[in-house]
Amino acid sequence: VPVESILLSSRLRDYTAIFESDGSFLGDLVATANRIFIVDENVWAAHAGGVLAALPREDVVLLPIAEETKTLSSVGLVWDTLLERSAKRNMTVVSIGGGICQDITGFAASTLYRGIGWIFLPTTLLAQADSCIGSKTSLNYRRFKNLVGTFFPPNAVHIYAPFLATQKEIDYYSGVGEVVKLHIMGGVDSACRLDEAMASIGEREVSVLHRTVRDSLLIKKSYVADDEFDIGRRNLLNYGHCFGHAIETATDYAVPHGQAVVLGMVIAQQVARDRGLETDPAQIELLDRLFVKSLLAACVPPHIDLDRVIEAMGHDKKRTGEGLVVVMAADGFEMVKHDDVSVAEARRAARSALAPCGGLA
Ligand SMILES: NC(=O)c1ccc[n+]([C@@H]2O[C@H](COP(=O)([O-])OP(=O)(O)OC[C@H]3O[C@@H](n4cnc5c(N)ncnc54)[C@H](O)[C@@H]3O)[C@@H](O)[C@H]2O)c1
Ligand SMILES: [Zn+2]
Repeated sequence: VPVESILLSSRLRDYTAIFESDGSFLGDLVATANRIFIVDENVWAAHAGGVLAALPREDVVLLPIAEETKTLSSVGLVWDTLLERSAKRNMTVVSIGGGICQDITGFAASTLYRGIGWIFLPTTLLAQADSCIGSKTSLNYRRFKNLVGTFFPPNAVHIYAPFLATQKEIDYYSGVGEVVKLHIMGGVDSACRLDEAMASIGEREVSVLHRTVRDSLLIKKSYVADDEFDIGRRNLLNYGHCFGHAIETATDYAVPHGQAVVLGMVIAQQVARDRGLETDPAQIELLDRLFVKSLLAACVPPHIDLDRVIEAMGHDKKRTGEGLVVVMAADGFEMVKHDDVSVAEARRAARSALAPCGGLA
């Protein structure tokens, strides 16, 4: 794979996401002045003897990873570590891990001295294909997911597909869910390309992954550009998330995020079909095929309590008016957002859409 990069612009700074064809970039990072490596403990366990062997052990700090600890207390531990190691404002944190590592270290880097250097190496499919650009950092607070956060772009992102070889299947397919979302949002050509690549993605073929991750990021970039602070078009990236978040809550997070997003897209498209927005048989067939293929390896629990899903939807933090807010793909892969979906309509759509996926309580 030739080295490629994507330029991202942001109010704070411009930065590039670089696709690395071999591990030599790690040596360059080691040679950077005043850097420290903060590494997801599981990534270290999987890659210390391989991809990450170039890192000097004394400059590596291991970060314990759990959704429950994506909080200010972990950020405090990172601040402590950075202050112990160096009192300099001109330090650079190199974080290596998935979305949790990104959120904790990104938040810590954005707030210490009101912002220090930050380079991110995403090691999960979700982080590579989706979260590594867009400049959001998020922490959980009390029972609220991603309630607290900042906008803080990294100085650079390095994307290296071989990290993905060691991801657990369930986490990997969570990323596949977001990849499917983005490729549908990219239009008919990208959705068809993904459909053809799906078997190789399942095999984690490095060249296919690089291309798929690159295309995902280019599509995301097209939605984030000119709306860094999420007030307009960027909202459409919430496709699948309106119902998806509710499914996560209603199942106490037993359904991994990206899989919940796929189920959320399945319901959203049912609403679109009920409203006569999606009528093209070819599009319907393609979307359904992508949904099925991306859910195949999922561990979707047999019972999703529809009442809890609907109740959780009512609590959606992005909701502004009376109705439920749903993003859908209309004919021609045109993304639309409706904010007048009634509870009864959502319930009907969810019931008929999810019936083939397993039992509903
Ligand atoms: N800031 C944003 O814009 C943004 C966007 C989307 C999601 N997120 C957040 O990202 C998190 C989910 O991130 P994720 O899906 O990347 O996974 P993750 O960070 O939750 O990691 C999942 C598990 O995989 C392990 N892991 C990571 N890379 C690995 C590898 N290469 N090999 C083996 N194990 C590995 C981790 O240690 C962890 O146990 C959520 O907290 C979500 O809220 C943030
Ligand atoms: Zn998501």
